[in-house]
Amino acid sequence: MKKRLLPAILLMACLYGHAQDAKMNAFVANLMAKMTLDEKIGQLNLVTPGGAVTGSVVSQGVDENIRKGAVGGLFGITGPEKVRKAQEIAVNNSRLHIPLIFGLDVIHGHRTIFPIPLGLSCSWDTALIRKSASIAATEATADGLNWAFSPMVDIARDARWGRISEGSGEDPFLGAQIAKAMVQGYQGKDYSSAHNVMACVKHFALYGAAEAGRDYNTVDMGRVKMYEYYLPPYKAAVDAGVGSVMSSFNEIDGVPATGNKWLLTDLLRKQWGFKGFVVSDYTSISEMINHGIGDLQTVSARALSAGLDMDMVAEGFLSTTKKSLAEGKVTQKQIDDACRRILEAKYALGLFTDPYRYMDDTRPAKEILTADTRAAARGIAAHSLVLLKNDQQTLPLQKTGTIALVGPLADSRRNMLGTWSVSGDYTKSVSLLEGIKNVAGSNVNIVYAKGANIADDSMLVKRANALGVEIETDAKSPAELINEAVAAAAKADVIVAALGEAADMTGEASSRSDINIPESQENLLKALVQTGKPVVLVLFNGRPLTLTWEDKHVPAILDAWFAGTEAGNAIADVLFGSYNPSGKITASFPRNVGQIPVYYNHKNTGRPFHGEDFAKFKSDYLDVPNEPLYPFGYGLSYTSFSYGEVKLNKTALKGNETLTATIIVTNTGKYAGEETVQLYISDPVASLTRAVEDLKGFKKVYLQPGESKEVVFTITTNELKFYNSNLQYDWEAGQFFVRIGSNSRDVKSAEVLWSK
Ligand code: BGC
Repeated sequence: MKKRLLPAILLMACLYGHAQDAKMNAFVANLMAKMTLDEKIGQLNLVTPGGAVTGSVVSQGVDENIRKGAVGGLFGITGPEKVRKAQEIAVNNSRLHIPLIFGLDVIHGHRTIFPIPLGLSCSWDTALIRKSASIAATEATADGLNWAFSPMVDIARDARWGRISEGSGEDPFLGAQIAKAMVQGYQGKDYSSAHNVMACVKHFALYGAAEAGRDYNTVDMGRVKMYEYYLPPYKAAVDAGVGSVMSSFNEIDGVPATGNKWLLTDLLRKQWGFKGFVVSDYTSISEMINHGIGDLQTVSARALSAGLDMDMVAEGFLSTTKKSLAEGKVTQKQIDDACRRILEAKYALGLFTDPYRYMDDTRPAKEILTADTRAAARGIAAHSLVLLKNDQQTLPLQKTGTIALVGPLADSRRNMLGTWSVSGDYTKSVSLLEGIKNVAGSNVNIVYAKGANIADDSMLVKRANALGVEIETDAKSPAELINEAVAAAAKADVIVAALGEAADMTGEASSRSDINIPESQENLLKALVQTGKPVVLVLFNGRPLTLTWEDKHVPAILDAWFAGTEAGNAIADVLFGSYNPSGKITASFPRNVGQIPVYYNHKNTGRPFHGEDFAKFKSDYLDVPNEPLYPFGYGLSYTSFSYGEVKLNKTALKGNETLTATIIVTNTGKYAGEETVQLYISDPVASLTRAVEDLKGFKKVYLQPGESKEVVFTITTNELKFYNSNLQYDWEAGQFFVRIGSNSRDVKSAEVLWSK
């Protein structure tokens, strides 16, 4: 009976889906039949009235253009009242009353800010990440919005790039899982609830591979690498039903992504079956003039013909498309297709039924920055922290004695939110000093000293402060500040040093060629270490930093990233052991900048170097090992985990058989804790060179002290597949190594033969 019921239900769901599509198609076709050419082009125009947005160009004459039907969407305003005003102009004053779509950079939370995406990814917890996106969607829709410019899924292997902070690190498998979770969190099952927003996966594509880690720089990449390592997260978002895609600033094969037909039509729509609309990045249409492929009319025509539907701020579509149509540079069908896709999105969001659907004045007070969203942010933030070092169990801290809390990031609410938190109010965030006071209890004496400015280099300070003051220069001299800190440390049993980057030292247009802790703070740290007291370094950073000196001399290092509104509380929860850290880094930490790009899934080369010492005529360096300081997947716990051997159900398989790999993980320490068990597969011989290993699965286990659990991975030929020279995704028979462990370096391995 049950067996018969399921196909019937699926069939009914399918028929219902078709009927809904038919209804939408009829509605949109009917509307488009009434639209003039100008009105159709108007739908392709996305404007911003200014405010908390990037870029130097802000749209002019917004109200008038909305009235004329020359605007399809608006971004950069928040609050139901403001959004309603703009919507009223469109609905009451434009000829066809077509509602606007309202977007914003909702990146890691909207008003309640979660850790920066790089930090979030270190939780390896897709359920929590989905939840963070879902809370962000609730807050954003309570604020009148229906479109989030997120998730940002650009793979990055270069920590110099400031925007590595906005993505999920270097691995495509993990990146794809997170992309899917974010889309699901934002969009829900469909848009039937007014608590969901349309997501916008970005920046399509390869933006994270900018040469030299310099933002907006050229990208040059072969197709195999692209398909294997950079495209999977975007594809995962498309497969998860993402409603929109944002094109990137960079070029691909000499053609800027925004005008790249291969990318936006052949790959995205034809190969991947994407049905939503593509929006440009901020003025990325007009920036194609600088790229050197033509004037505004030429580049706008190029973008539209490539499959780009909506022009963010450049107004190239608005000002040139009519002329291009008359001159045969674009077709009516291209204009119609773009217009239709945008209207379909508005239809799906329910805006034609109720243009004010997301503008409920009573919602903000009930749904924004509530006790519940803050509690969720605190828990999620704790999961994103990574314990990089903990000698002699320096951590967790005792709730007795005196703690010297030192450093320019210790008493800073401002720097807790991190980059791209445009709607976050830093005055509502919790500093580390406040968090420690909240969690430590009355038996702990806290002495605080600033100890240093975030940076003393006036050029760096000026540039990092471009969007507002985040790096304050103290009236006291660097020597005075250090002396105060050392005096505070003298009274303490343990020193907690809150050091690192200011929030805007990462993010857009915040690339660095040196990714160290700035010198002013390094001097402070050295002075603190010299006191001989135990030092815990709490690191604030939007990228992997070079920590070679710190790793050698500081007993405990906790990477806190920029953990959001509840940062201080979450960090204190971890410092005092209320939460046992479980985060694992998702981007390798280089030993020095010269190692970049350094990433775990590298190739073997013809002269591989395996060993400790330098070997002449091998692929290595004279002055530094090949391995990063901390490898991908690495992160400690207050407890310790031991791994048994990898047990396979078979060591020889054929065709579509299934392999089961089992390993026993034991908590050998004193604390209960969570471990992320990682599965890597190595394919040492193939028709083209493969990476030394690739992540293919991970599982979380929670273990009490002394407890063991069996962790089982099911492996099929899907996990063996890769893109071959013809860009076919397939597997090849041969020998494979199944590697399971606590990070990409520390794994147990078992061999298997798999034949066709
Ligand atoms: C960024 C995008 C962002 C857009 C709108 C651009 O500068 O690259 O990520 O969504 O601005 O604010």
